[in-house]
Amino acid sequence: MARMRTKRHLPERMERAHEYWFDDPAANKGKWREACSFPSDCELWLELGCGKGKFATEQAQANPDVLYVAFEREPSVILAAIEKAKEAGLKNIFFVKQDIGLIEEFFSEGEVDRVFINFCDPWTRQNKPKRRLTYRDFIARYKTFVKSGAVLAFKTDNTELFDFSVEEFKACGMEVSDITYDLHNSGFDRVNIRTEFEQKFADEGVPIKRCTATFP
Ligand SMILES: C[S@@+](CC[C@H](N)C(=O)[O-])C[C@H]1O[C@@H](n2cnc3c(N)ncnc32)[C@H](O)[C@@H]1O
Repeated sequence: MARMRTKRHLPERMERAHEYWFDDPAANKGKWREACSFPSDCELWLELGCGKGKFATEQAQANPDVLYVAFEREPSVILAAIEKAKEAGLKNIFFVKQDIGLIEEFFSEGEVDRVFINFCDPWTRQNKPKRRLTYRDFIARYKTFVKSGAVLAFKTDNTELFDFSVEEFKACGMEVSDITYDLHNSGFDRVNIRTEFEQKFADEGVPIKRCTATFP
């Protein structure tokens, strides 16, 4: 993947959009709703590796009662996402510039209602399956903070990663459903929000694979 060039005036621009991120997001562990001034019974949806934020902002916009938290580790990339949310005037989305490898530091048991993983790095060419965000060790971490019966929605262009992920979900006791190897030509597309990467692959004619997996 081509690296995004560092954005000009990055610190100043992050500062101008400070209402979308926290100086110490780990301090919100177990109290995200309270920290974001949201009702204690609202749903919290989490996106892992949100990229430039098209999916995150459209999803938050379509679900104004949901508290949406998006993780992304690349500073210039997350800035693009934050500025998108600010431009849309959204009040229900917050961003965390951290590595997903540290995810348990940010949420406590039963805090998260839904998880999205879209077009995560496949690590197929380097043959490093343990680095995939759908590898069983990552899923074990997600289990520490999702509600029982929470859904993980997963999309990718990469068939090897997709098949691997479905097996990992099952091995972790998750129920896998709504599988399609061609999302844009399936019934699931009616409610689908495209990500930046998804749009690029669609333009190249690559079919998108998608499934949901329910945590036990
Ligand atoms: C291939 S891009 C997909 C971006 C977006 N989800 C989309 O579909 O357009 C993967 C994104 O995940 C981020 N990412 C990958 N591993 C990460 C990690 N361990 N922690 C945080 N972000 C990560 C990358 O910086 C990149 O922006």
